[in-house]
Amino acid sequence: MHNSSIIKNITLGLLLTVAFFACDMSNRKKVDKTGYQEELKDREVKVVDEAEIFNKASEIGKEIAVSSQKALASQLKKAIKEGGPVHAVGFCNTRVNPIMDSLEQQYDAEIKRVSMHYRNPEDQPDGTEKKILEAYQYSLDSGYSLSDNVQKVGSQFILYTKPIVIDNPLCLNCHGEPGKEITQATMQKIDSLYADDKAKNHKFGDLRGMWSITLSKKEIIKAL
Ligand code: HEC
Repeated sequence: MHNSSIIKNITLGLLLTVAFFACDMSNRKKVDKTGYQEELKDREVKVVDEAEIFNKASEIGKEIAVSSQKALASQLKKAIKEGGPVHAVGFCNTRVNPIMDSLEQQYDAEIKRVSMHYRNPEDQPDGTEKKILEAYQYSLDSGYSLSDNVQKVGSQFILYTKPIVIDNPLCLNCHGEPGKEITQATMQKIDSLYADDKAKNHKFGDLRGMWSITLSKKEIIKAL
C-alpha cells in the first residue's frame, strides 16, 4: 500500500512533467520571440510632433550641407593645386563627388545646389526653391544675416536649404569677372562646356546659390 502510493505519486509526477514540457514546447513553437519583437518594432507608432520633425530635419540637413560643402571645397582645392583653374573646371560639381553619393544613400536624401544664375542648367531652381532664393537675396540686400531654412514640401518631404555665399576669393577664378579674375583660358573651357553660362561676374560676398536638400519625413522620424 505504502509502495503503491509512492509509485502512483511518481507516475503522476512524471505525467505532469511531461504535460508541462509538452505545453512549453507547443508554446515555443507558436511564438517565435525574436520574430514577434521585430514585427512589433515595425508596427510601433512613434508619437512625434511637427516641431521635433523640423528640428531633426534641420540637424540632418545641416550635417549633409556642411559635409558636402567641405567635400566639394577640398576636391576643388586639390584640382586647382594639381593643374590650375582650367584643369579644375570639372571639379566644382556635386555630380562627381562620392561623399555626396554616400550621404544621399545614408539619409535617402536628394542633395542639390541650385542658383538663379546657374552655370549648369540642371541647377535651375524649381518654384519653391526660387522663392527661397529670392528671400535670401532680399535678406542679403537688406543687410540681414542669412540663415538656413526648413519647410514642408507636400505631406511626405521636408526641404532643407542653406545659402551659398562667395566667401572665398578662390571662387572668383571661375565665377568672377572674365578677363580679370577668370583667365581667358578658363573662360574658354567654361564656354565650351556651358552654352548659357550665367554664373560669372560675381563679387566677393554675393549670393551664389543654395544647398537644396530634400529629406523624407519617414527617414527623419526613423532617426528621432
Ligand atoms: C575651377 C573653376 C571653379 C571654381 C574655382 C569654383 N567653381 Fe563653382 N562652378 C564651376 C563650374 C564649372 C560649375 C558647374 C558645375 C556643374 O556642371 O555641375 C560650378 C557650379 C557652381 C554652383 C552650382 C550652381 C551653378 O551655377 O550651376 C555653385 C553653387 C558654385 N559653383 C559655387 C562655387 C563657390 C562658392 C566656389 C568657391 C568656393 C566655386 N563655385 C568655385 C566652376 C568653379
